Amino acid sequence: MAAAEMHIYRDNWAFDEKVCPCDAHLMDFIADRDIRDATIYHFGTGGHHLVGRRCAEDGRGNSVLAITASPQEYDEYVKLLIANPSMAGAYVAYFGDIYMLNPKLTPELDVVTLFHSREFRSERNDAYGALTDLDVMKRLAGRTKSGGHILFYTGSFAYNAAIADIDALKATGAVEEIGLFKTLRVFRRTDKPIA
Ligand SMILES: C[S@@+](CC[C@H](N)C(=O)[O-])C[C@H]1O[C@@H](n2cnc3c(N)ncnc32)[C@H](O)[C@@H]1O
Repeated sequence: MAAAEMHIYRDNWAFDEKVCPCDAHLMDFIADRDIRDATIYHFGTGGHHLVGRRCAEDGRGNSVLAITASPQEYDEYVKLLIANPSMAGAYVAYFGDIYMLNPKLTPELDVVTLFHSREFRSERNDAYGALTDLDVMKRLAGRTKSGGHILFYTGSFAYNAAIADIDALKATGAVEEIGLFKTLRVFRRTDKPIA
């Protein structure tokens, strides 16, 4: 039997604030809270790479590690860096499946976006032993500093499904809810350890 192939994202997502404003709202949140010198983990670069680009340019000194499961979106990143090599220090995008996330390869984080929880995972990820959405939430919460922020997108088509995982994460006591910022649901990491 052939080994299972990675469940990739076949699109090259363009930015359209009317359709999907979450990345723009994240940048508004960063400005509103005046977040500086932070390490940000971003789920879903899009082909536009808006979060990485803006953080590399806005003078706040934030560093972004972002994942894409789209070969075309990753290709856009390669082109972006070739044209803008000075961005390489502040913005690293990598190609991978977030459901294979390894905490040992994840830095300590100040801000985590989980905007696309429950949108893409399927039995195609099960075929290679991938994590669940809740596993990913817990692993990233485990890498988030006490006082750091974890954000979810209430406008996601999968948000209703993600609520069960968000509730389970909350029940661990590792995060406390702060409230809504535009379309984003914002949590703060507590100092409680998480398995
Ligand atoms: C609908 S696009 C949204 C992009 C961007 N956050 C925005 O809102 O404009 C979904 C993003 O999730 C990424 N994605 C989908 N499945 C993924 C997976 N298993 N691991 C990592 N990224 C994934 C895609 O590569 C894409 O960048």
